[in-house]
Amino acid sequence: MKLLFINGVNLNMTGKREKSVYGTQTLDDINEEIAAYFTYDECEFYQSNNEGDICTQIQLAGDEDFDGIILNAGAFTHYSYAIRDAIASVDVPVIEVHMSNVHAREEFRHKSVISEVCKGVIAGFGKYSYILAGESFRFDGKY
Ligand code: DQA
Repeated sequence: MKLLFINGVNLNMTGKREKSVYGTQTLDDINEEIAAYFTYDECEFYQSNNEGDICTQIQLAGDEDFDGIILNAGAFTHYSYAIRDAIASVDVPVIEVHMSNVHAREEFRHKSVISEVCKGVIAGFGKYSYILAGESFRFDGKY
């Protein structure tokens, strides 16, 4: 499988911010573990704090032969219609992920404007949310 892991705004602060919510590992540490888990697959990683750059990355992935995109859009999840439209504009399936269980947190996190155009949503399993989302592509077409 060829997988693209995209992290959005503030995810570069993982390991430094709100450690009780997001843990103490940096995003680089987490990405290394993901790459090691998917040893026999091809993984690419991208992070940006800029909404437009994330849209561009999703568009570019649409032109390549990715099996799937695993997207933690961070707070953009809750209000970015631009990212929603970028997801809707490509054929590559996108799984929305969150490390925390957004539904057990503040009310503004309960709403996602991207879920509707994503293949599925995984939230609440820390760094394993990314791995579970990546694994889901193995079941493609089997359900
Ligand atoms: C997050 C949840 C979002 O509400 C928040 O803005 C983030 C991270 C998560 O991984 O749990 O930045 O997407």
